[in-house]
Amino acid sequence: MAGLPHGGILINRQDFDKDVGDIPCSIPIDRVSLSDLELIANGTYSPLTGFIDEENYHSVVEHMRLANGLAWTIPITLPVKEAVANRVSAGDLVKLAYHGTVFGTLKITGKFRPNKKWEAEHVYLTTDLEHPGVKRLFDRGDIYLSGPVELIRRSERPEEYSGDFLDPAQTRQLFDQKEWRTIVGFQTRNPIHRAHEYIQKTALETTDGLFINPLVGETKKDDIPGDIRMRSYHVLIDNYYVKDRTAFAVFPAAMRYAGPREAVFHAICRKNFGCTHFIVGRDHAGVKNYYGTYDAQKIFSTFTRDELDIQILFFENSYYCQRCGGMASNKTCPHSASFHVALSGTKVREMLRTGVRPPETFSRPEVVNTLIEGLSEKKRNSETIQH
Ligand code: ADX
Repeated sequence: MAGLPHGGILINRQDFDKDVGDIPCSIPIDRVSLSDLELIANGTYSPLTGFIDEENYHSVVEHMRLANGLAWTIPITLPVKEAVANRVSAGDLVKLAYHGTVFGTLKITGKFRPNKKWEAEHVYLTTDLEHPGVKRLFDRGDIYLSGPVELIRRSERPEEYSGDFLDPAQTRQLFDQKEWRTIVGFQTRNPIHRAHEYIQKTALETTDGLFINPLVGETKKDDIPGDIRMRSYHVLIDNYYVKDRTAFAVFPAAMRYAGPREAVFHAICRKNFGCTHFIVGRDHAGVKNYYGTYDAQKIFSTFTRDELDIQILFFENSYYCQRCGGMASNKTCPHSASFHVALSGTKVREMLRTGVRPPETFSRPEVVNTLIEGLSEKKRNSETIQH
């Protein structure tokens, strides 16, 4: 049985029948804000009801908690350009538009100028613009608007996986129907390789159900796009997972690459989806060498078990060991690293893009096939468009 959402109440700020025709002011938002708007509105970010205000912003950035003390590690803000901010004031009700289409409303409670350097130092632990999360932070608007939101229209869902979107209310219902008492959530922005499968199934040995919840929001350019990954997830689950023990839905949030802080944020979102457990392996939500291999595990000791109310299952770096003849980690394998099949994410993505197959001990052949096909199809299509 799913426990209570974070903060106790599952937020629902969706009203698809709402007429906003008489609201005169409309402000443009970017793709990340659109996804935040949707995830606030459907309860994935419970207890947030809108974009956070200055007091909460300072509290989240500095203390990893909302002003009321509740754990919250990533500031969910609405950055806008100065010229846009100058057009609005606290008290205004405005429409939020992405590429000219109105998706929701914001009741403005405040606007403030953030100290982005300070934000980057705390949230990303670096101000290096090579970090994709920091780069995005600095690229976005310089003024943050705050206030409660309402979603009046959902963004278009990619045709390839439009059926894989579930709101937290729906996943909670699904887990109840399946009569799972314990549910372990799994986050990924990558295809599912052997190591992922190993830690998922190890976790499933001691829980009732596995919820595979890949992130499909904005990612950095060289990550494998969601539509291509999606085929690989389905082919893997159809062939190698127990149907009654596995649930699947996408997580349409933007990737922040904030490592430790994002691991906590990911866990809270999965608690809102109804998970009782959450997997954090090596370098969760990390990028390049900005974070230590287990920093995203260590951060959880900053919070009490009651504060987060979701049990984190920590996993060691896992790999296929040629001498063990199976998946293992340094906790279970006594052999030297020369027997271990280890490839970095960057290396694997490069191999797949050039049609080189990673070994079967790294990734299942069915998964590799869909990825190589998908990537070369995408390349052909983009070449056709360019010519
Ligand atoms: S991310 O979403 O955390 O950036 P990634 O796909 O790399 O994506 O990892 C998904 C989850 O699997 C994370 O919890 C990560 O720590 C864990 N993980 C990935 N590879 C391994 C591995 N080889 N051993 C142990 N855990 C891993």
